[in-house]
Amino acid sequence: MKTQTSHPSCSPWPPRSSHSSCEATSIPTSPAADGTIPASNESPTAGPVWELGGDFHWVATEPSGAGRDILPADAVLFGNGRQALYAVLMEGRRRFGWRVCHLPAYICQSVVQAARAADMECRYYRALPAADESPDWPPFQSRHEVLLSANVLGFSGLDLVPPDWPNENRIEDHTHDPWSRAACESRAGYCLVSLRKTLPTPDGGAAWSPLGLPCPSPEALIPGHAAAGQEKLAAMLLKRHYLSGMAVEKEEFRAWQIQSEAAMSIQPTSRPLPVTASMLPHLPWRRWRVERARNAEYLTDRLLGSLTAPALEPDRREVLPPPTPRRFPEQCPFAVVLLCRNRRERDRLREALIQRRVYPPIFWPLPEEAARRHPEAADFAARMLALPCDFRYTPEDLEEAAEVIREFFQTEAG
Ligand SMILES: Cc1ncc(COP(=O)(O)O)c(C=O)c1O
Repeated sequence: MKTQTSHPSCSPWPPRSSHSSCEATSIPTSPAADGTIPASNESPTAGPVWELGGDFHWVATEPSGAGRDILPADAVLFGNGRQALYAVLMEGRRRFGWRVCHLPAYICQSVVQAARAADMECRYYRALPAADESPDWPPFQSRHEVLLSANVLGFSGLDLVPPDWPNENRIEDHTHDPWSRAACESRAGYCLVSLRKTLPTPDGGAAWSPLGLPCPSPEALIPGHAAAGQEKLAAMLLKRHYLSGMAVEKEEFRAWQIQSEAAMSIQPTSRPLPVTASMLPHLPWRRWRVERARNAEYLTDRLLGSLTAPALEPDRREVLPPPTPRRFPEQCPFAVVLLCRNRRERDRLREALIQRRVYPPIFWPLPEEAARRHPEAADFAARMLALPCDFRYTPEDLEEAAEVIREFFQTEAG
């Protein structure tokens, strides 16, 4: 049976109010973009413990209906993103004879693991979120091949469609911006997302077919997945208590997070936790996306100021996405990326940020084969820091990160 997230009064997808124009648009601030969502009081700045980054804490969800169009009406929910990809690949294997999967060289390990679990021969193509260049698309050779393109870090815009590839043989991963124009207007055989990267849900992934191809669906909530999801839920609740100043040690919720992540599996595919399915139609994704774009714009501008200070040599240092042209609402960055000169500089900067309670993730340790064949992807992974800029934060919160970075580079220059 399909697990659907649509509300009885579900409006059609793509959601019109955020994709009605192709023009570059300025980012609305308050009131909320759709004007209907009550203001949030979920910023961790409300509590006595301040920090920036790390996994989501638990966010209380009111029955607002604000997320009724959070996914296309025919989207099928899974326990996580890797399960959604695995299920789609297995469907393609059975129905269309897919045997080879082309993947971007710069991608998260669990995506590659899902392709391997589906017994695909994995081949990697050059695609960097940093480059002004299009991905180096492999030629389409046979119906037995499938190509995965990904809007990595939400920077890719519409550059997800390789010429010459039949839509039926394409999968798009929209995890980092499920509501971009590319996602809403996709003509790929299948699209997928991991929900828990942009939304404060303990688990969840989704797949759908813009072409109307049959979409597989998990039969049940699998006990192993339920246990992993519940550990994450416990971690989210504990983190909320920690941020609000209750007697919780950071190590406690970190231990639950790590344990849950290690227990997230690819197969058997599972439905997500009931709490995830029930909260989705009520999450104010529009407002949160507006806030992410506003924060990204603010932080990008602040960091560019630091990197171009006269005493600094900007060589090989970069802030992404570049400030112009801003493309909201067509695109919305997942995070602001700071590219350092080399791994050593990146690691030292990260340490300085952690000292000040800013926790920037690094994306990603690459599969050995991808790193060997695509040194440019390995170089990007070695030099990058991702600065979270999601709805949990205000520009004032981001100012702290910007200040640490400014001080760090000033010391370097001095
Ligand atoms: C772009 C992308 N797609 C898919 C996934 C897999 O999602 P999940 O961790 O929910 O399995 C990830 C995980 O980090 C990801 O970054």
